[in-house]
Amino acid sequence: MQLTSLQQEMLTGQHGHSTRKAMEILATLGEIYGAERMIPVSSAQIAGVSYDNLGEAGLHFLAEMAAGGGQARVLTTLNPAGMDVENWERMGISADFAAQQQRVIEAFARMGVVTTCSCTPYLTGNVPHYGEHIAWAESSAVCYANSVLGARTNREGGPSALAAALTGFTPAYGLHIAENRRPTVTMQVPARLAGTAEFGALGKLTGERLEQYGKERLPYITGIDLDRSPASLENLKSFCASIATYGGVAMFHMRGVTPEATLFPPPNEIITISREELDAALKEMSDAVPEEVDFVSLGCPHLSLAEIARIAQLLEGKKVKKTFWITTARPTKQMADMAGYTQTIEASGAIFAVDTCCVVAPIRGRFHALATDSAKACYYAAAKHKFKTLIRSFDEVVEEALR
Ligand code: F3S
Repeated sequence: MQLTSLQQEMLTGQHGHSTRKAMEILATLGEIYGAERMIPVSSAQIAGVSYDNLGEAGLHFLAEMAAGGGQARVLTTLNPAGMDVENWERMGISADFAAQQQRVIEAFARMGVVTTCSCTPYLTGNVPHYGEHIAWAESSAVCYANSVLGARTNREGGPSALAAALTGFTPAYGLHIAENRRPTVTMQVPARLAGTAEFGALGKLTGERLEQYGKERLPYITGIDLDRSPASLENLKSFCASIATYGGVAMFHMRGVTPEATLFPPPNEIITISREELDAALKEMSDAVPEEVDFVSLGCPHLSLAEIARIAQLLEGKKVKKTFWITTARPTKQMADMAGYTQTIEASGAIFAVDTCCVVAPIRGRFHALATDSAKACYYAAAKHKFKTLIRSFDEVVEEALR
């Protein structure tokens, strides 16, 4: 791989220990994937922030990078942590865990990372535009950035996203190359989809079918009646989260949504998904009956302000009967404070779990069954926490908390 003189200097340690380590990671990745050069990135999003996932080894690596003088050279934000950084006690987090999680956040802060802790950086100021090269590591946000915003990123891991942040570069391969963004298969899907739960179920189904398909997974989604089933920001973030979870998909084209969809014709090979299959996917994610639900959570991916407004409207003057987590980014919560939504929601007994989510928080064994509108949350709640799950529409999930 050809390196510029600045990149060579980084590799030989002239910009400090951590920058050298970061450039080593990127050069190795570039060699593995056959990149010919590095390209500058304008932003990074780092995953692997929850101490529950990182453990001691991960914390040690971050502390070492911070001590070695690593400094972010581009706008860099963080994925959710394992707790609400301010209100962890109210979430039932232990003091030991909180102390370790704080050390993780502090290490990132020392490196000049904006510690917003959210999987929707595009809702809180880290918003790349069309054609911009970025290095993001949250799979749902990667899919959203490529497919909805038209920015260009591979699915980075935590270390490679950090390396891109500390150097300002990433190897030019994969989805950074225009030709690699060409769709490989057309997916004809049902015309009518109702809200986040059904968009999420479609993501699960398309993801699973693409796994079986086996070849390069870059689908061209067609068939959705966008007048009657609007591809809203909320529906798309749900779809992106689940197609990435169930199918490892980093990008799709959707007519009327993806900026580059007009550049390519739909591929001749077609996979069809029926309404019956969609209903079956929803059923599959509901192994709990409503009576079993003892935990309700909305905000996977993190809630938008409009979604919080809707929750406030539904909870106004009512009391929740189950543990109900509202998960969002801290800046979004601050806007909810200003709009008065927070007061209404907290008066109902629901809890804001800011900076975190029902997947990355250390809550295994604390609950029996989760009600959510998120196909991604269903996957991880079952796989990681061993919860039963019940998927419902957004409004119905709020009803579950009140039942
Ligand atoms: Fe975000 Fe947590 Fe879901 S990181 S996408 S809310 S699993």
